[in-house]
Parts: sequence; C-alpha cells; structure tokens
Amino acid sequence: MIQSDLDLFGPSPQRLAAQTVLLPGFVLPQVETLLDDLRPILRAAPFRHMRTPGGQAMAVALTNCGSLGWVSDQQGYRYSTHDPLTQQPWPALPESFLQVARNAAETAGFDDFTPDACLINHYLADTKLSLHQDHDENDFAHPIVSISLGLPAVFLFGGMQRKDPTQRIALNHGDVLVWGGEDRLRFHGVMPVKPGTHPRMGARRINLTLRRAG
Ligand code: SIN
Ligand code: FE2
Repeated sequence: MIQSDLDLFGPSPQRLAAQTVLLPGFVLPQVETLLDDLRPILRAAPFRHMRTPGGQAMAVALTNCGSLGWVSDQQGYRYSTHDPLTQQPWPALPESFLQVARNAAETAGFDDFTPDACLINHYLADTKLSLHQDHDENDFAHPIVSISLGLPAVFLFGGMQRKDPTQRIALNHGDVLVWGGEDRLRFHGVMPVKPGTHPRMGARRINLTLRRAG
C-alpha cells in the first residue's frame, strides 16, 4: 500500500485508559460551524477571569453556554443557571455543539450523551490549569467531552489521587478527548500553553468542555 502511512483519513482513536479515548482531529470538519456558533455566545457572555473561593483571579478566562454554567467565586465552585456578569441565563447550547459531543461520546463508547453544560476556557501563552477533578456535577455516570481548538496543549491526565502519576497527552486543534465511567473522576490539568500563533485561532487555545451537570 503506497499511501499507507499518509494517514489520508486522519489518525484513528486512541484508548488512553479503560474509558478514556482521544479522537484526533475529530471536529476538524466542523470547526467553522463551531466557531460560527461560538461567536454570538461570546458576545452575550464574554470571557472573564473568575475568582477562586480563596479570592485569586483564575489564569484561564472562561464563559459558558447551556442551561447550566460552571462558576467560581467566594462561595465556591458550582453550576449556575445564570451568568453572574450579566444576570442573564447562559446562552443556549448550540445544536452543533450537542451533535459533536453526542457523536464523540458515542465513538468513545458512551451512548445517549446529552450535555446541558458547556464550559468554554480561554488560554493565552503561559496559561495553565492546575490538576483538579471535575466533581461539581450531579451524576458521574455521564462522560466528559473536551474539544480543543487553537494552540496545542499538553494535557495532564492523572489518577484518582492528586499525587498519582500523570500521563501527558498532546491536544491539538480539532482533537476531542472523552473520559467517563471508571475514569470519570481522574485528576487532570493543562501545562502552561507554549507561545505561538495558530493559523486559524491566533495566539490562543480555546477548550469546550461538555458535561451533563444537572
Ligand atoms: C478542564 O479541565 O476544565 C479543561 C481542560 C482543557 O482545557 O483541556
Ligand atoms: Fe476539568
């Protein structure tokens, strides 16, 4: 096969743990649609630096869409139906986000995923996200679908304890990472993003994390 190593159909899914699957380039065909649907969300609910319960501004800027949005302030981490900046409900989850999340989840072995929350994270050069667990959701039976856009990042994927060793996973523009089931509560984070300019996204990384929170 002359063309066997040209990867004409893109790299195939990679299983990184029992119920964790990396889907390289999975959303590349939908990137323009996702960006078209993202623009009005960002106009209605701009990126902002929320404060940790301890009072520190977070390095990652964030916003949300969906019936629930993840927020942080002096009272703690939680989901809220309204944007604290505008007092308005979060913008609706676009059909394109829902479809992509559902398809990615299914490809990774999780049927009937219907997210109600999409956290949208914005990273500039040197922005990192410390190791944490996603545990503010009601029911851990649902997976997490994480879509990477823009500058590449190194994702740290650990175990159930903060001190457990971490694997380093390269996340590139268009990649989707899905984790759930027995991996749902693994610690994870993002190494400082290396400075650069992505041809489509500029000097930033945007991550969409779709979850079922309520
Ligand atoms: C998150 O854990 O909330 C986001 C992960 C990422 O940006 O890849
Ligand atoms: Fe997370």
